[in-house]
Amino acid sequence: MNKQLSPQDLNVKPNDMDAYWMPFTANKQFKANPRMVTGADGAFYTADDGRQVLDGAAGLWCVNAGHNRKPIADAINAQLQELDYAPNFQMGHPRAFEMASRLKTILPTGLDHVFFSNSGSEAVDTALKIALAYQRARGEGQRTRLIGRERGYHGVGFGGISVGGMTYNRKAFSGALLPHVDHLPHTHNLAHQAFSVGQPEWGAHLADDLERICTLHDPSTIAAVIVEPVAGSTGVLVPPKGYLQRLRELCDHYGLLLIFDEVISGFGRMGTGFAAEFFGVTPDIMTMAKGITNGVIPMGATAVSGDIYNAFMDGPEHMIEFFHGYTYSGHPLACAAGIATLDLYRDEQLFENAAKMAPVLEKKLHSLRDEPNVIDIRNIGMIGAVELKPHADGVGKRAYDTYLNCWHNDVVVRFTGDTIAMSPALIMTEENIEQLVETLRQAIRDAA
Ligand SMILES: Cc1ncc(COP(=O)(O)O)c(C=O)c1O
Repeated sequence: MNKQLSPQDLNVKPNDMDAYWMPFTANKQFKANPRMVTGADGAFYTADDGRQVLDGAAGLWCVNAGHNRKPIADAINAQLQELDYAPNFQMGHPRAFEMASRLKTILPTGLDHVFFSNSGSEAVDTALKIALAYQRARGEGQRTRLIGRERGYHGVGFGGISVGGMTYNRKAFSGALLPHVDHLPHTHNLAHQAFSVGQPEWGAHLADDLERICTLHDPSTIAAVIVEPVAGSTGVLVPPKGYLQRLRELCDHYGLLLIFDEVISGFGRMGTGFAAEFFGVTPDIMTMAKGITNGVIPMGATAVSGDIYNAFMDGPEHMIEFFHGYTYSGHPLACAAGIATLDLYRDEQLFENAAKMAPVLEKKLHSLRDEPNVIDIRNIGMIGAVELKPHADGVGKRAYDTYLNCWHNDVVVRFTGDTIAMSPALIMTEENIEQLVETLRQAIRDAA
């Protein structure tokens, strides 16, 4: 018989650092000097020493409406009392249908069917699987190739890291990545684009590399191309003017599906519902997560066009059309959180506020141009980045020092390589943006 041991018996301490293997974290470094938050409200975290710390990253690009929003908490609580969980395999519950219908009202025209998952990574793997299965369903089963892009981030599933192009995310798994994947070149070029305000003028032609890839492999072997409209996690790469339009033209020309990974760029981050709307380019498949529930409950979603959905609907009525799904696809709590989040975005006109604040962020950010070691500043919508000259001691050191300086001065930013990235919540005021950028200015100086 097993005796149920209490935490005291086991000597478990609530704040023991050892047991938790933290994700995407330098564990040894963090545990030697932890940075802990214990609360949050609006644009601020509360640190464990009581400081109010401005969240310049909206959590991980997800808390678009700010932290601890009561209408979302209330909706989750109410849902929990009513229906805690129900599967969506061969049965359903109203909230999932409602959430899909609500999403449809803000999705780019033409994207009108939604498949739910629990994260951006799952939304991406779902999109890649839909692309392959769709090609097969329409009699083009030889289209097995997937095209991603260097420096792309599409989460951490094997599909996502295969089409993704961030070296460290792939390195340890390079022998086990998906076959039949190729990559477009990334769009970052300091010589031609440094300090571009908004979209760089130079670089649309980089999309033409898709023609080279089509010639090399034969376009009839390619199922889909996946890109982030704005690459976020690699350090904010804004698409050059005309680049996404060119990709769309080439995909149409060669019969390839275009997938936009809007896990970061969706839900108002660009001042519009989605980046597709902002750039005027509609993909065939779109992935979402993060801001879909304001980051409060995990949820991912993959939207597809009617053409794609209908291609699956031709078989016998009793047959499952797509052998894919997650236990928590369309989880009632996630759907309740999602519906309340969409209400909040609408009622508080947060996408509009983001559009209003984006030029404020742009102007403030570009005022950092003459600070020491700043070699580029990039921005679009409520996204900003400052790239720093790498320290002689190694790549990433200067950005880490800058990040730490910010933390100690009550601001959270993100860093990747030597780029500091910011994605303020859409509720941010001019005063918040001032604090964010001025704290960063001092942090850059102190790290020089
Ligand atoms: C563009 C993009 N796709 C996918 C993901 C993965 O999302 P998740 O961490 O929820 O799996 C991210 C996360 O940052 C992302 O930025």
